[in-house]
Amino acid sequence: MDLHLGVAAGDGRRAGLERALRDAVRDGRLAPGERLPATRQLAGELGVSRNTVKAAYDQLVAEGFLTARQGSGTRVAALPPVETRAPREREPARAPRFDLRPGSPDVGAFPAAAWLRALRSAVTSAPALAYDYGDPRGRIELRTALSGYLGRARGVVAPPERIVITSGYVQGLALLTRVLGGGPVAMEDPGLPFHREVVRRHGGSVVPLEVDGRGAGTPGDCRAVVVTPAHQYPTGVTLHPERRRALTEWARARGALIVEDDYDGEFRYDRQPVGALQGMAPGQVAYLGTASKTLGPALRLGWMVLPPHLVDAVADTKLHSDHHTESLGQLALAELIDSHAYDRHVRACRLRYRRRRDRLLDRLGARARVRGIAAGLHALVQVDDEERVLARARAHGLAVGRLGDHWHTPGAGRPQGLVVGYGTPREGAYGGALEALARALDETGSAL
Ligand SMILES: Cc1ncc(COP(=O)(O)O)c(C=O)c1O
Repeated sequence: MDLHLGVAAGDGRRAGLERALRDAVRDGRLAPGERLPATRQLAGELGVSRNTVKAAYDQLVAEGFLTARQGSGTRVAALPPVETRAPREREPARAPRFDLRPGSPDVGAFPAAAWLRALRSAVTSAPALAYDYGDPRGRIELRTALSGYLGRARGVVAPPERIVITSGYVQGLALLTRVLGGGPVAMEDPGLPFHREVVRRHGGSVVPLEVDGRGAGTPGDCRAVVVTPAHQYPTGVTLHPERRRALTEWARARGALIVEDDYDGEFRYDRQPVGALQGMAPGQVAYLGTASKTLGPALRLGWMVLPPHLVDAVADTKLHSDHHTESLGQLALAELIDSHAYDRHVRACRLRYRRRRDRLLDRLGARARVRGIAAGLHALVQVDDEERVLARARAHGLAVGRLGDHWHTPGAGRPQGLVVGYGTPREGAYGGALEALARALDETGSAL
């Protein structure tokens, strides 16, 4: 047998021989069942002592690469087949030419320079302990900064000790579902199917909660309700003051929890934003916010302001989930808020998205009716046949959201609409996206 064992020069003799044998077995040069040379022979060929070869064989027998049996010598073991296929990467779906799908802001507008400055400043002044495990609720710097920001910008009663920083809104929803310990959770219908799935996967059972022109109704017998009061997703309506009152009374009467998803509350264009529901009932509402719309989903930074009785349980569940959210991003966001760079960025975005919404309404003109308030990064455009418009949109390289994807139980007779995410395209692509949308509507004559 000609082994061609390449024993590397820097290795000790025994370690080098072990490595060379291992490699030869792994890459198939030594086939399963093949008999290895006797120790004396290999020692002679390699110019090493017999003990060195024997020790190397013994080691590889111990590791399972070789077998040694009295009478049949040392042989190559049959290794379990190696899985050579790499785990599948989540392939990015082929990007459409024009993208008006809801969900993301214009990530091209991420304030990279301001973020870098904030990160540099935060890292420069961070104590060494900032690099250690920390409080599961998150960095006190960020909780303090958010406490002030949420109070003045959203009317949230948010003492730092009741704030828990999360990996986006979605983790907050998952943690709360787990803490509630299952049971029925009412969720808006229509609403985001992904969030319904998150609740189910964490033990909740989802009950539909009807939405009309005044926002979500009042649930029946549930432990919790998840609502988007400032700007219902996807219909775009705001929760009527009477409904707000009814919902908080419902929660108080039953000791139920209202989960307030304030995902785009900073973006109101026609007037001052309506304050968060949490301000009316801090003991009944878990307020959840996120940096996904104001900065970018990639940061995975969200926050929850909890009623006092839930703080310890949520912090404990967070601890056993991921210790805490990554600290440096938290410090950078705290610095961004404290230096007012966050407010400046939000103001600039508000102007940009407001202009985009105006351009959308202009371009649609009399073609279509847009439902909901002047807010957020998406608009619901009513059509009479969403399937046909989507097919024409695809033909023009345009992807756009579909109201039909948001019902708990899709079916005939549902209102039809397009969920137009006007925040998504890069600035230069927006005009083309609007053009493609207008053409799709014209070709189908589908707009109401
Ligand atoms: C209705 C709604 N809530 C919350 C979020 C934010 O989720 P996250 O903070 O997990 O990115 C989004 C983002 O698309 C959303 O559409």
